[in-house]
Formats: sequence, C-alpha cells, structure tokens
Amino acid sequence: MGVLGDASARWPWLVQLGTEPEDTILRVVYEHQKVAAEEERPWFVTLSFAQSLDGRIDFRETTGAAPLRLSSPRAQRLTHALRAMHHAVAVGWNTLVSDDPLLTVRCGIPGTHTPPGWTQPRPVVLLPHDGTRESTGLKQSRLWCQRRHELLLVPREADWRAEVSAPSLFVEGGRRVISSLLQATTTDDALGRRCNLVIITIANCFIGNDVRSVPAFTRGSSSAHTCRLGHLRSWMLEDELILLGIPAGADTERTPS
Ligand SMILES: NC(=O)c1ccc[n+]([C@@H]2O[C@H](COP(=O)([O-])OP(=O)(O)OC[C@H]3O[C@@H](n4cnc5c(N)ncnc54)[C@H](OP(=O)(O)O)[C@@H]3O)[C@@H](O)[C@H]2O)c1
Repeated sequence: MGVLGDASARWPWLVQLGTEPEDTILRVVYEHQKVAAEEERPWFVTLSFAQSLDGRIDFRETTGAAPLRLSSPRAQRLTHALRAMHHAVAVGWNTLVSDDPLLTVRCGIPGTHTPPGWTQPRPVVLLPHDGTRESTGLKQSRLWCQRRHELLLVPREADWRAEVSAPSLFVEGGRRVISSLLQATTTDDALGRRCNLVIITIANCFIGNDVRSVPAFTRGSSSAHTCRLGHLRSWMLEDELILLGIPAGADTERTPS
C-alpha cells in the first residue's frame, strides 16, 4: 500500500474543508503526501510539535508536574486532524511516561468526524535502549489500559518503516525524538527516520529558563549539524504561528506546485 493508497476511504472529509488557515494546512499536507505517492515513495513521516517563542518545548513548571498546555484549543484541533491524516502516531518513551497521551483523533475533522469503517491511527511508542524500564511505566499508561491491542512498541535501534509497516507516520515528540529525527534528516535515511515534513506550532509566549528546548544535535567531526526547512510556509491561527517546511536533505524531492 502506498502513502495514499487508501486515501479516499480514510480521508473523505478532506473535500469538506473550508477556507480557514487550518483547512489550507491540511490541504498542503495532503498535496505533499500526494506527491510522495506519485513518486511511489513507500513511507511518509511528518514531525510536529509545539514550542514557545523562546524555543521551549517541555512546558512543565517543575519535574513531575503536569505539562502546561500552551497551544490553543484551535491548534490542538489541528493536531488531531493531522493525526487523522496519518496511519500511525508516535511518541518517545519519556513522553508516554510523563504526558500519558492517548494519541487518538478526538476532534478536528469536519462533518461527522469519521467515516464508517475508519480506524484510528495506530499508536506507536519508541522504546529506550534499556528495555527493562518498559514494564513499569507502560502498564500504568492510558495507552496500555485503553489501546493495548493496537499499541506498537518499537525497539530503539529498529527500522521504523519496517516496524510500523504502514504508509505514514506522525511523530509528536518529545524533545529527544524531535532532535534525533531532525538530525537523521540532515544525514541520511537510515532506519526510516528521515522526515518528509515538519510542522511547528509557535505559541505566543515566552516560558523562561527552567523549561527545556530541543536538545542540540550531535556534532560531526567536520562541522556542526544544522537543519533548515525548505519551502517554508506559515499561517496564523489567531496569535499562534504555524510553520510548515521540508527539512533540508529532503528538499531534492518534488514539492506540490
Ligand atoms: N511541545 C511538544 O510539542 C511536545 C510533544 C511531545 C512531548 N513533549 C515533551 O517532551 C518531554 C519528553 O521529551 P524527552 O526528550 O524527555 O523524551 P522523548 O523524546 O519523549 O523520549 C525519549 C526516550 O525515547 C527513547 N527513544 C527511542 N527511539 C528514539 C529515537 N529515535 N530518538 C530519541 N529517543 C528515542 C529514548 O531512548 P534512550 O533512553 O535509549 O535514548 C528515550 O528513552 C516531555 O516533557 C513532554 O511533555 C513536548
């Protein structure tokens, strides 16, 4: 099955989209996936996260506290709709333990939400090297309690594409996963971790010093790695900025006209 092999069955609500910025964003994502399908690429990875104006992405005030929600309900609805446009949704192990996400689509799709026969994107958790940590946090998580039969646990060194075995993956963080995925994009396509699209929500606030940003990339021997976004586009959702771009390294691929 290609990237869009079953698009008409999975996402018929795309035709109901209106003229709001988030409708355009969903159409743009669809166009990127369509190009990937036309090029017969077997796998499409989108990385998406929210950050503050000062680049912080871990919105916890103190260790152990519940995360502060900085993105607006509108941006959260967009995230749910973006989840719905992928076959699987992944987070890193620490995000599972700290945020206890369900990774379901609960809003954001126009009309009657989901067409008959539609299935939720498959939840994916990226496991740490030390597999022994697995059992403790996992068994207490909502993902385990409510979606155990769909849940896919991907070993640290595994090939994502082979493990997920679905045409598209939406990666939501956390910090280290974002960093390693951007870094993989600057180097090579190893282990199916190169991302095709990056979508960043920038919330209109400064958080301050105690909250963490995306960790630095590992520096190679010759020069520091940086990752730029090509074909950059932006939209305002009220006072939040949404950026969408193709990471450098993936920009030799054709983009929607
Ligand atoms: N702002 C946002 O949009 C957003 C979204 C999601 C999460 N978050 C925040 O991010 C924080 C968690 O971030 P975090 O950096 O502590 O943890 P994380 O990125 O969620 O998870 C890191 C863990 O996943 C494992 N892992 C498996 N495959 C990996 C890969 N390819 N790259 C990197 N790690 C991989 C790591 O294993 P090893 O230990 O073996 O390296 C490590 O145990 C939470 O506070 C959460 O609230 C923010």
